[in-house]
This record gives sequence, structure tokens and C-alpha cells, in this order.
Amino acid sequence: MKINMNFDILLLLLPLLFQALIVYSSTPTDILSQGSSLSVKRATTNVLVSQNGIFSAGFIPVGENAFSFAVWFTISSDPTIVWMANRDQPVNGRDSKISLTKTGNLVLLDAGRVTIWSTGTSNMSAVKLQLEDTGNLVLRTTNLGKSFTLWESFKFPTNTLLPKQTLTVDTKLVSSKSQTNYSSGYYELFWDDDNVLRLHFYGLDPQISSVYWPPPWQGPFENGRTTYNNSKTAALSSTGVFSSSDDLSFLATDYGVELHRRLTLDSDGNLRLYSFDMNTRTWIVTWQALPEPCKIHGTCGPNSFCSYDHRFDRRCSCLPGFKMKKYPNWFYGCEPEVKWNNSKETDGFVRIANAEFYGYDRDYFPNQTLNKCEEICLSFPECKGFQFKYEDSIYKCFPKARLLNGLRMSGFEGDIYIRVPKANISVYHEKPIVKEIELNCHPKQVILMRAYKKPHENATLKVLVCVSIGLAGVEFVCVIVVMCFLQLSRNRNDSKMHGYMLAATRFREFTYNELRKATRGFREIGSGAGGTVFKGVLSDGRVAEIKRLREAHQGEAEFLAEVRTIWRLNHMNLIEMWGYCIEGKHRLLVYEYMKHGSLADNLRSNALDWEKRFSIALGTSKGLAYLHEECLEWVMHCDVKPQNILLDSDYQAKVADFGLSKLQKRGESHSSSFSRIRGTRGYMAPDWVYNLPITSKVDVYSYGIVALELVTGRKPTSVQIVIDGGGTTEHGRLVTWVREKMNGASTTEAWMEEIADPILEGKFDRAKMELLVKVALQCVEEDKKTRPAMRQVVEMIQCHDECSI
Ligand SMILES: *[C@@H]1O[C@H](CO)[C@@H](O)[C@H](O)[C@H]1NC(C)=O
Ligand SMILES: *[C@@H]1O[C@H](CO)[C@@H](O)[C@H](O)[C@H]1NC(C)=O
Ligand SMILES: *[C@@H]1O[C@H](CO)[C@@H](O)[C@H](O)[C@H]1NC(C)=O
Ligand SMILES: *[C@@H]1O[C@H](CO)[C@@H](O)[C@H](O)[C@H]1NC(C)=O
Ligand SMILES: *[C@@H]1O[C@H](CO)[C@@H](O)[C@H](O)[C@H]1NC(C)=O
Ligand SMILES: *[C@@H]1O[C@H](CO)[C@@H](O)[C@H](O)[C@H]1NC(C)=O
Ligand SMILES: *[C@@H]1O[C@H](CO)[C@@H](O)[C@H](O)[C@H]1NC(C)=O
Ligand SMILES: *[C@@H]1O[C@H](CO)[C@@H](O)[C@H](O)[C@H]1NC(C)=O
Repeated sequence: MKINMNFDILLLLLPLLFQALIVYSSTPTDILSQGSSLSVKRATTNVLVSQNGIFSAGFIPVGENAFSFAVWFTISSDPTIVWMANRDQPVNGRDSKISLTKTGNLVLLDAGRVTIWSTGTSNMSAVKLQLEDTGNLVLRTTNLGKSFTLWESFKFPTNTLLPKQTLTVDTKLVSSKSQTNYSSGYYELFWDDDNVLRLHFYGLDPQISSVYWPPPWQGPFENGRTTYNNSKTAALSSTGVFSSSDDLSFLATDYGVELHRRLTLDSDGNLRLYSFDMNTRTWIVTWQALPEPCKIHGTCGPNSFCSYDHRFDRRCSCLPGFKMKKYPNWFYGCEPEVKWNNSKETDGFVRIANAEFYGYDRDYFPNQTLNKCEEICLSFPECKGFQFKYEDSIYKCFPKARLLNGLRMSGFEGDIYIRVPKANISVYHEKPIVKEIELNCHPKQVILMRAYKKPHENATLKVLVCVSIGLAGVEFVCVIVVMCFLQLSRNRNDSKMHGYMLAATRFREFTYNELRKATRGFREIGSGAGGTVFKGVLSDGRVAEIKRLREAHQGEAEFLAEVRTIWRLNHMNLIEMWGYCIEGKHRLLVYEYMKHGSLADNLRSNALDWEKRFSIALGTSKGLAYLHEECLEWVMHCDVKPQNILLDSDYQAKVADFGLSKLQKRGESHSSSFSRIRGTRGYMAPDWVYNLPITSKVDVYSYGIVALELVTGRKPTSVQIVIDGGGTTEHGRLVTWVREKMNGASTTEAWMEEIADPILEGKFDRAKMELLVKVALQCVEEDKKTRPAMRQVVEMIQCHDECSI
């Protein structure tokens, strides 16, 4: 009966209640006064809202019947939590509340009236709690007309730093456990004892915690930091400039514009700067600390390694002989499949190429043979394996006591040898990589996009959409982007560099006059693509290739962005850029000079014997693989051809003319950004003609043609074929010709003799040529899905002694 009565009263009161709610929610307040509280029961309406409507403070659900008191960013499509009072101890969803007591203490009480959290203030009158426009939750008292801050959330950050908030000596950012679990995770951004701001992984086992940013194998000064300033402060501005007392400073890619921004230590251990896009109501990454996600420690746990591929994001794999410990949590890593007793006699090694395990070296032995290194490792019972690396013209041996922070990438020089029982070696050799499991992509909401404000123009904000957003209905493809990862150098020269400071000492801006002098009035014209190329001698005596870009209409900010993109790409098989010039309409790029010119120049002379050709094929594939996979920007070249492959004094291939192509979204995106077909007839993949999504596979195709040209010495003259619907496709005559010769010949020997460049006069390595032709033919498959990725091409060509395809 009693229940019914109450219910009736409730029904009567309902309209009133609703009215009250509406009144309440239509006039949200930013202030909680002394003696009042916010209750979890009315979590949706019982909130403080900052006067500008950007931030809210209140209870937010973090699990089943679990709530945390938090400040969040209200206007994003999903609320973005920027601060939490009780991230590790959520409260019950029934009777919990946060109260500002009569004594001035802000107290979070759980259902059972247990204090979960408080500000610890007391004996204060005239106290109020205010959520400010900056997102700072401030407890203030007014005394004799003056207001004093008793407590503020900005002094106790969780995983996010907002503009106007300072990261001080006693504060740190701690990542969340995962994207859905806000409790304290495994990574922190903290002030180290030597006054340097660092990222630290402190995982499950305190013994395996380690610093991973800035790169720990370099000293603070090599990383552009200083240890001399002990003030330990760092702050982010709303225009996108971050600077800290250890001389770290960086700019957002859209720096210069006043935006909502946040610096967050994400649960994957990467520190990212985000800016808020009002149109899509999403956050966009505009800087991140680690472009190569596998370099974040702890990602895959012990006894495993991380590999990275633009198609699959990060992936973890257990080492041979190990299995995953706690599916699906990779932080626990892998454990041995079988327990065995270490012994000199029964143990052997399995090799994993292009891999590295950071730290935990038992010792270091320079100038060792592989056998000697194996012996050394076997002699330590705790040796789990060793790193064997060729460096400074000797082989170095690093026996490892633990196998942590493993990473594997093509182009990494060095192998790791894992200690396993001899009895099982043959099994592991056949299938060395046990399992590759994708990690969750992170972060999901990011759209690849960048915005620039031209530094010298007011008000005009030019938004450059580099990449088409995925087609509707296509499943969310995760994108991780960092563009223009730029650390400011300590010897800054603001006016000169247009606000962009460049760290590399060799990289600089040239004046137009300097370059005119260097090229003696732009006279010596060479060959090149994308613009006119001149040879010049710089004032310091270096011989440079200077490219004057044709598209002079490009704005200053866009030009500088492209320049930074190219400059960041650093690989022995990519041409090195030394600087640029931007003056008025002039846009010039200064590159290292390649003594032997382009592959195109060399192919038709007697200069290239078979060894050189093979090494050019390998070098080119490595350069392209680097562009495709290891750099965050996923640069597609889009114009791979012999004219763009330059040869240094040792005939080592260096890919040129990259980076001026647009950045491409990872995964299969339909490319409305490629409105104009780019490339060179004969080397162009059919994908362009069929209007297929443009992926890095277009470069694979072009590479295949170049490889065939290297073998045959023939140009890929093409014929046009009309296809259904009236379009035309180019079907490489060279490809058809090679295939016909292969199919028509009775022996491998026979077709090789037929297709080999007559200039070689039959002097070539049969096995290598067969391999290269087979790989090249895979590359030029019509169906791009059957073409290998560039990384696989490298692996296939590289393993000519060991593997078969
Ligand atoms: C978050 O992770 C912690 C620690 O693993 C766990 O105790 C807690 O239940 C998790 N919370 C949610 C909401 O899953
Ligand atoms: C609070 O005030 C009481 C009475 O005035 C006093 O005894 C107590 O020491 C004060 N506490 C603090 C922390 O100031
Ligand atoms: C230390 O860093 C702070 C904050 O960046 C700066 O204001 C101060 O001038 C620096 N001190 C010295 C001695 O460089
Ligand atoms: C490993 O060593 C222990 C003690 O020495 C012995 O009891 C055990 O049988 C050994 N196991 C194997 C597989 O050899
Ligand atoms: C490496 O060892 C070999 C043989 O022990 C020796 O001849 C050679 O000089 C050593 N090289 C270096 C760089 O120490
Ligand atoms: C490794 O060898 C041991 C002993 O021969 C055997 O019991 C075990 O099944 C092998 N493990 C694998 C993965 O082959
Ligand atoms: C730039 O500023 C000047 C002076 O403040 C103003 O006259 C002009 O209209 C502004 N230009 C733009 C594009 O807003
Ligand atoms: C900055 O640039 C000016 C010329 O614009 C030059 O005179 C000066 O030496 C430069 N300063 C530094 C620190 O490079």
C-alpha cells in the first residue's frame, strides 16, 4: 500500500519535477556553492557547465553501476574526459554524491558514506567550486574581497593537459588502462630527476619498466633537451605551441590558429596533441611523440615482438617457442610453450631477421663471429638469445637476459637469435613466426587532415584536406597520423624560419641569391622531374642538386609542410634534402648531388653490370618500403621510374622526387584526393585507369616495371587497349613480352638468356635474375591484391640465398 501511495504522489509531482528539470538544465550553472552537492542519481542533469558551454563536470558512467566524478569536453560527438577525481575507485551509481561541505571541503562520498576522494580543504568559509572556461575546476574562497584558490583540478592532471594548464614538478600524466577503462594505465609522462620530460612504461612487473621517449639510447642533449633548467614546467598554448623548461618544444600541424586543443597520453603509450574540428566535432591528431608505434615499450609484453605495417597497424607476435600468456592482453606477453632446462649441449638458436630487442643486454662483445656469439650466449644460463648486428664495419654481439620491447621492421640492420631446444629448431625454422595478432587500432576517431594558417595572413584559414575520408558504410578504418613532427632546435631564428624551427643543422633555408650564386645563375641544367634541375656548389663546398619547382603557386605554409615531410624521411636509399628556398614566387629544393645521375641515364650505357643492377633493384625496393611503411605519413611515390632513381658514387640507388605526392590514408580508400592521374606512361599501374582506389600498390606496380627494365634493358613502351565502357588501359608490352618468353621457353636458362639485356653479354647470376624476374612479375599483377607489399618485395629479394618463392 505504502509503495502505491508513494507512486501516486510521484505521478502527481511528475510534471512539476519535469519542469524543474527543464528549468535546471536550461540554465546550467558553473558554480557549486558551499553546503550543496551533485548527486550520481541525477547524473545527467546534476552537472556544472562552464560559462562558455565547452566543459562539464559531474558523474560519468565508467562501468556497470560505476561512476567517476569527471570534467569532460562537452561539444565533441563523444564526451572527451579531460580530468577525473577517482579514476581508480569508481563509486556506486545509487547514493553517491560529491558535496562541498560547510567547512569548505570537496568530498566524494560512495553509497555507504565512505569518503572516496576529497580536496582536503577545511576551516574555510565563503568557498565555492567553479568550472572555468578553460576546463579548470577551481575551489575558491573569498576573504576581505580577495579570492584565493584553495584547490584546482589543473594541479592534478590525469592523462590530459589542456591549454593554460602547466605540467609542473609534482605533476605527471598517466595514461588510461584502455580506451574504455579510465583507470590508471601503464604509461606516464613525468619530470625525470635530471629535469627532462620523459615517457615511461612501468608495466606489470616493476623490473621491466623503462623510459622510451625521448630515445633513451641518446643523451638528453642529443635529443635536443637540456638538463640545466630545474624549473620543470611545461605548457600548451591554444594556438598549438608546446614548450617546456627542458627545451622541448613543438608545434601542432595547424599551429597558429586558436582552437580547442589537448595533449593526451593515450592508453597505447603515445603522447598526442589533438585539436578539435568544429565541423566534424571530432579530435584530430596534430602531433605525436612517437611516429613509430612499435618503439613504445611494453606494447607486446615480454618474449614477443611488435611489427608494423600500414595495412594492419601494430601487430604482436610471440617468439618461436613461446605462446601468448593471457589472451587478449598483450601486456603479459608470451611464455615458453615447453619448459626446458637450459644447457650448452641441447640448446640452439632460431634467427629472426631485421629485429631488435631493446635493453637488458647481459654484456657487449664487439667484433665477433656468429659462432662465437652463439657460444657466448650458451655459456650464460640466463641468456635468452642475442642480438647480432653489423655496425661500424664489425659484427657486434649482445647477449640478452630478457627479451623485451622487441620490434621488427624491414630495413632494420640486425638480427636476433632466440635460444631454443635444438630438438625443436627445425620446427621453428619452418614457421618461425608463431602468430601475428593485431592490436586494437588507436585512436579511432582520428581523421587524417591538416589545417594551416599562413603565418603572414590574418584571418584566412586555409584548410587542406589531404585525404578523402573513407566511404560511407566502409568500416571505420583507424588512422594514426603524425604530420610534420617537428622538434624545435635550440638555436632558434624565428623571423628567418617563419616560425618553423628546424633541428637538423645541415638542413636550412637558402636565400634565392645564395642559390643563384651556387648555380652560377641557374645555368647548368640537368635532367629531372617535377621541375627544372640545376647543379650547384654551395658556399660550404658541397655539390648540390637544386630543383626549381614548377608549381610556384603553392602557398608558403603548404610548401613548408611538404618540405618538412620530405626532410623527415631519412633512409640510405632515399635522396637526402639539404634545404629549401622560399622567396616570393620562387620555390626551390636543395638535394644532395648524385654523381652518377639517374638510372635512366645509366641503363643504356655500359655502366651497369649485373651486380650493380641487382643492388639497385634491392636498394630501390628498400627506399620505397621505407616510404610506404616505416614513416608515419604513408608517402606514396606515385611516379616510380628510372628517371627518379638516382645513383651515388658507389651506384647505390636513391629514390628521388618523393614526398611531393599527397599523403594517403591508410587502408583502401577511394581517392577523390587524386583527381589528377599522376605517373608516367609505361610505369603506371592499371589502378589509375580503372579508377580503383589508389594505394601504395601503384608504386609496387611501377617498381615491377623498373625491375624488368633493369633485367631486360628494354623500355616499357606500352600499347593502349580499349576496355569496356570506353576507357583505355595500358597494358605493358614489356610485361607481356617477358611472360611470353617465359612460357615459350623450355628451360629457365633459355628464357633468361632471351630476356637478359644484351649489354650484359650473358654475365649475370642466374639465381638472382630468376628471383628478380619472378618478384617483378608478381609486382605487375593486374589485380593489386595479388601484388606483394613493398616490404615483402624487399624480403623476397633480400633472401636470395635462403628462400625460394
Ligand atoms: C579497469 O581495469 C581495472 C584494472 O584492471 C579493473 O579492476 C576494472 O574493473 C576495470 N574497469 C572497467 C570498467 O572495466
Ligand atoms: C580549524 O578550526 C578549529 C577551531 O577553530 C581549530 O581547532 C583547528 O585547528 C583548525 N584546523 C585547521 C586545519 O586549521
Ligand atoms: C627555465 O625554463 C622556464 C620555463 O620555460 C623559463 O621561464 C626560464 O627562463 C628558464 N630558466 C633558465 C635559467 O633558462
Ligand atoms: C631439468 O632439471 C631438473 C633438475 O635438475 C630435473 O629434475 C628435470 O628432470 C630436468 N628436466 C628435463 C626436461 O631435463
Ligand atoms: C676483428 O677480429 C679479427 C680477428 O680476430 C681481427 O683480425 C680484426 O682486426 C678485428 N677487427 C677490429 C676492427 O677490431
Ligand atoms: C619441442 O620438443 C619437445 C621434445 O622433443 C617436444 O615434446 C615438444 O612438443 C616440441 N615442441 C614443439 C612446439 O615442437
Ligand atoms: C588583415 O588585417 C588588416 C588590418 O588589421 C585588415 O585591414 C584586413 O582586412 C585583414 N585581412 C583579412 C584577410 O582579414
Ligand atoms: C638569424 O637570422 C639573421 C638574418 O636574418 C642572422 O643574421 C642571424 O645570425 C641569425 N641568428 C641565428 C641564431 O642563427
